Amino acid sequence: MASFSFFASILLIFLSVSWIFNACNASSQGGVGFSMNLIHKDSPRSPHYQPSLTSKDRVRAMIDRSFSRVRYLSSIFSARGGGGDVAGISNSPASAPAPAPASASASAPASDSNVYSKVIAGDGDYIMELEIGTPPVKIMASADTGSDLIWIQCQPCEDCYNQTDPIFDPRKSSTFNGSVSCNDDICQALPYKTCSSQNTCQYEYEYGDLSVTSGTLSKDTFTFSSDSNKKLQVQGNSSSSSIPGIAFGCSYNSKGTFEANEDGLIGLGGGHASLVRQLDSSINGKFSYCLVPYKENASSTLNLGDNAVVNGPGVVTVPMINGLYDTFYTLQFTSVDLGKHNIPVPRGLSTQMIVDSGTTLTFIPLELLVLVMDDLSKIVNLNETNDPEGSLQLCYSYSSKAPAYPFPDITFNFGNSSRLVLSAMQTFIFIADDIVCLAMAETMGGMGFSVFGNIAQQNLHVGYDLHNKSISFAPANCSTFKI
Ligand SMILES: *[C@@H]1O[C@H](CO)[C@@H](O)[C@H](O)[C@H]1NC(C)=O
Ligand SMILES: *[C@@H]1O[C@H](CO)[C@@H](O)[C@H](O)[C@H]1NC(C)=O
Ligand SMILES: *[C@@H]1O[C@H](CO)[C@@H](O)[C@H](O)[C@H]1NC(C)=O
Ligand SMILES: *[C@@H]1O[C@H](CO)[C@@H](O)[C@H](O)[C@H]1NC(C)=O
Ligand SMILES: *[C@@H]1O[C@H](CO)[C@@H](O)[C@H](O)[C@H]1NC(C)=O
Ligand SMILES: *[C@@H]1O[C@H](CO)[C@@H](O)[C@H](O)[C@H]1NC(C)=O
Ligand SMILES: *[C@@H]1O[C@H](CO)[C@@H](O)[C@H](O)[C@H]1NC(C)=O
Ligand SMILES: *[C@@H]1O[C@H](CO)[C@@H](O)[C@H](O)[C@H]1NC(C)=O
Repeated sequence: MASFSFFASILLIFLSVSWIFNACNASSQGGVGFSMNLIHKDSPRSPHYQPSLTSKDRVRAMIDRSFSRVRYLSSIFSARGGGGDVAGISNSPASAPAPAPASASASAPASDSNVYSKVIAGDGDYIMELEIGTPPVKIMASADTGSDLIWIQCQPCEDCYNQTDPIFDPRKSSTFNGSVSCNDDICQALPYKTCSSQNTCQYEYEYGDLSVTSGTLSKDTFTFSSDSNKKLQVQGNSSSSSIPGIAFGCSYNSKGTFEANEDGLIGLGGGHASLVRQLDSSINGKFSYCLVPYKENASSTLNLGDNAVVNGPGVVTVPMINGLYDTFYTLQFTSVDLGKHNIPVPRGLSTQMIVDSGTTLTFIPLELLVLVMDDLSKIVNLNETNDPEGSLQLCYSYSSKAPAYPFPDITFNFGNSSRLVLSAMQTFIFIADDIVCLAMAETMGGMGFSVFGNIAQQNLHVGYDLHNKSISFAPANCSTFKI
């Protein structure tokens, strides 16, 4: 029942207006756009980068992360009791969630009465940098399109994980507000919260691997600014954009598998508490990213506002549908083309697909994956081999030094002639110097949606328009991407 009221409140909030920017000053209004670096955790630019690892180890780590992320997403779905749109049968999204099943909650602590609150520790493949407070303090955090809450570790810590950067001390910020009331809309939108005796909002977030972070919902000024090392473009007059009153979690207690190089997590999901929803009118409901192929030594970009307008040759704009959760950006796909052969999503399978920057592989239903693999086997004239770890289903012996990829384009069709054509670079991944595999896997455990992962999104400028409720994709060279 707790989960029911949570979803009911999310829905009400979703329908209500952009209250927060009534209080915002004008500095950020009117055609503002800014961009910042988004760094792949396994790229040479990442603070996580371990030079001693081989590229094989890195790819394996990415693949493993991707499976654990999707395992978690799947547990959310079963908690929700299935439903959604399936091929040939169009249902409206379920309006009342089912309680968490025993399977998802068996080993979880008490707060798991709402499985939705779980996200994965070290969530996603990308980290971003921004500044919080006055004077501004630099924060490095996971950028996650699969969750909403923004949180960082704060002093005084009761129990913090080891963090490389100094831990944010709110007492040194003149604009910090640590007493956000329980009636605040953002507090209301949080899945697992309690009210202190002073009526301030306390939250607890539990992750898929049972890592937990908890603290006080707070507000402070966020600054997206230039920095000598970070090539950042701000359109308009100023070199930085400060936005007051952004709600985030000040975590005083975090346990689990958090990474020392991350000060917290920036939720970029579609739910009310996320950074992009809070910035909503300042950024005209728009954000985008351009993901550099993970092996390249260049930073990806995250763009907000006017910089996030995706257009130009080859742009494909697809309407978002109301998916199972506000958090997930959901599209509906109808079929996959291999070369000229069209493979519709088999009848009865879900056509919902979430676009996620934090999942490495693309996950589609097994029945569809098998058809895609059958077609590839017929077209591709290479010797098949096995993934030694058994994670990926279709691999070939092929040298990563070979000049061209002998693989057909794979096209995702989103209906109404919206065709997103992916080249081999976006659909195959070298797991060793001489083994290349299809970067796709099957959805798990009756998961109600497919996941469009970040290998598939490499070298595309992917723009989310929350007002127009659409996602646009345009071919780009993200290594040299400029607004
Ligand atoms: C990545 O590029 C930067 C400069 O753009 C360079 O300083 C650094 O050595 C490069 N790292 C690797 C591992 O190539
Ligand atoms: C944190 O780092 C300190 C110093 O490097 C070390 O002594 C301590 O054991 C670490 N704590 C944890 C929980 O890893
Ligand atoms: C902190 O934010 C709350 C709104 O949640 C507001 O009522 C309160 O006045 C603010 N406090 C300060 C010191 O600005
Ligand atoms: C914009 O830039 C001009 C020239 O650099 C400066 O005179 C003006 O004060 C700036 N306006 C704002 C709002 O920063
Ligand atoms: C809004 O979304 C629709 C698809 O739902 C698309 O056709 C249209 O181009 C989009 N408009 C803008 C301004 O992006
Ligand atoms: C496939 O394997 C056979 C036997 O090892 C070899 O002769 C042939 O050249 C291989 N074909 C390709 C396309 O690599
Ligand atoms: C195709 O366009 C029509 C009218 O714009 C819209 O109602 C329908 O939902 C679209 N179908 C898909 C699969 O996007
Ligand atoms: C992108 O641009 C870089 C630098 O010019 C170049 O090395 C790379 O090959 C380009 N990538 C693609 C996919 O065109």
